[in-house]
Amino acid sequence: MCGIVGAVAKRNIVSILVNGLLRLEYRGYDSAGLVVVHDGKLDRVRSIGRVAELATKSANTYGELGIAHTRWATHGVPSERNAHPHISRDLIAVVHNGIIENYEELRTDLTEQGYEFTSDTDTEVIAHLIHSHYAQGSLLVATQMALSRLIGAYAIGVVAADNPHQLIAARKGSPLLLGVGEGEHFIASDMSALLQVTKNVVYLEEGDVVEVNLANYRIFDTQGISIQRPVNVSQLNNDSVELGEYQHYMQKEIHEQPQALADTLESVCNSQTMVPGIFGAEATAIFPQIDSILILACGTSHHAGMVARYWLEEIAGIQCTVEIASEYRYRASVANPNTLVVTISQSGETADTLAALNHAKVTGHLFTLAICNVPESAIIRQSKLRFLTRAGPEIGVASTKAFTTQLAALFLLTLVLAKLRGRIDPEREQQFLHELRHLPSAVKKVLALEPQIAELSRNFADKQHALFLGRGLHYPIALEGALKLKEISYIHAEAYPAGELKHGPLALVDKDMPVVSVAPNDMLLEKLKSNLQEVRARGGELYVFADANTHIKEAEGVHILQMPEHAGFLSPILHTIPLQLLAYYVALQKGTDVDKPRNLAKSVTVE
Ligand code: G6P
Repeated sequence: MCGIVGAVAKRNIVSILVNGLLRLEYRGYDSAGLVVVHDGKLDRVRSIGRVAELATKSANTYGELGIAHTRWATHGVPSERNAHPHISRDLIAVVHNGIIENYEELRTDLTEQGYEFTSDTDTEVIAHLIHSHYAQGSLLVATQMALSRLIGAYAIGVVAADNPHQLIAARKGSPLLLGVGEGEHFIASDMSALLQVTKNVVYLEEGDVVEVNLANYRIFDTQGISIQRPVNVSQLNNDSVELGEYQHYMQKEIHEQPQALADTLESVCNSQTMVPGIFGAEATAIFPQIDSILILACGTSHHAGMVARYWLEEIAGIQCTVEIASEYRYRASVANPNTLVVTISQSGETADTLAALNHAKVTGHLFTLAICNVPESAIIRQSKLRFLTRAGPEIGVASTKAFTTQLAALFLLTLVLAKLRGRIDPEREQQFLHELRHLPSAVKKVLALEPQIAELSRNFADKQHALFLGRGLHYPIALEGALKLKEISYIHAEAYPAGELKHGPLALVDKDMPVVSVAPNDMLLEKLKSNLQEVRARGGELYVFADANTHIKEAEGVHILQMPEHAGFLSPILHTIPLQLLAYYVALQKGTDVDKPRNLAKSVTVE
């Protein structure tokens, strides 16, 4: 989603801005822009489409102070005039992530004051508001005064044409950090944008405003009081993520799953026993106190939580609820102080998940655990306990390896809690550890089915809709399969617990409706088979991903993709793989932009 980069230095910073935006590209955006201060003027370049175009257009631009942005449209269509930075009367320029909720009211006020609006964005009000206060004080004070009128979420960068060595930045509800260099400073919405210039980083807190100069910076809290924040050394590395032999990042990331799982499980698989400490030092004291789990997440991460509910209740015997973060954050819920609140997030900065975490804390929850793929993310920093999935950078918008590593982490959580609660004996623990060690190679075996799945995918290319069915532990996998397909192939896909078929979706089934079924060889298999008969009887074309020995036979209108033997509780991880591959190959057939599907973003940093 939207990204911010800013710099003040004693050298041309245009390439720093552009390279920073390139690092944020994978998050999804539809236009980009930058502004530099040069010779007392604002020099702005904007373009719709890729950052590469902005790079070409700004090749001859020079400036030692500037801000840049990738925009993912919220207010106003993707267009050059709506791209950031937004400028007020050739003096003030602003880039903004987030959403200003009272922008209409502010726009009316500012129009009455004579300000002209040249875009449809909510951001432009910030530029004019700052301008309206600038005559009375410094850029810092003008920004603080403007911010006091904003309702909503923001991370902003501000420069003024007559202030050649200073930029102002602020955040509330959207991530922003300060990069500390030698005689130069930077801002960005994500550390990866700054690794090209520094590893020293100050994470700004809610409500912080920072005045950034060449040689120093000053941070002010919500009360306007000057405060110190620690300078951290980022552990991220600047390796560019290469595609190698693959055609798309999504395909590469699907194939990286054996390694990603091995890395995520490394510490556990190399030891003989599982201990709470893998979730953070305080887990040893906290876990014995908890009597229930509340999982909060969005999108694919929410599906991981749904699988975990089955594991946690069945294996660990602990009550578990799973809620979509954007719903939970606005619900007046009743907190149980002995609940462990688990947020799951690939990026660690999804606005709704972050807000849900804070809502949980405000409601009275004391124990929080983040399962996340980005070490220095907001969700990690704001949680008491943490588990880092080690999937590595995930570039494709459609999440793949992050999902399966989240499942691995959640399975570990289940086992640790099950052990603490006396639900598994040492023998069973060893058996689970054995299965986990074997998981990467089991995933490799499933990946070998790729050519067959590519072949099957041809049947989907001309379809408008698809139904996905699963039961029990595999119902969330059906949901994930449908989500993958709709995200990247734009085929309308729905998932149902197979038992619900008769309660509605069966009405949709005909020869044009492919029905994909996850068919593990578990205790619900016979029930699932009856559901599949119901589909076949109505002419529906079945695509069954069946474990060995399920005895579901290939027939007219019944296509079988033969999976290995049933993998017990870890089966959902294996059954995810062919559905990811199916979505990928259908998208290839349809010629869509697999890694950057239309309208979607990798990191959803606004509501
Ligand atoms: C976006 C991404 C999804 C992801 C969801 C939650 O919608 O496109 O792939 O599942 O956000 O993101 P998170 O980073 O919190 O897991």
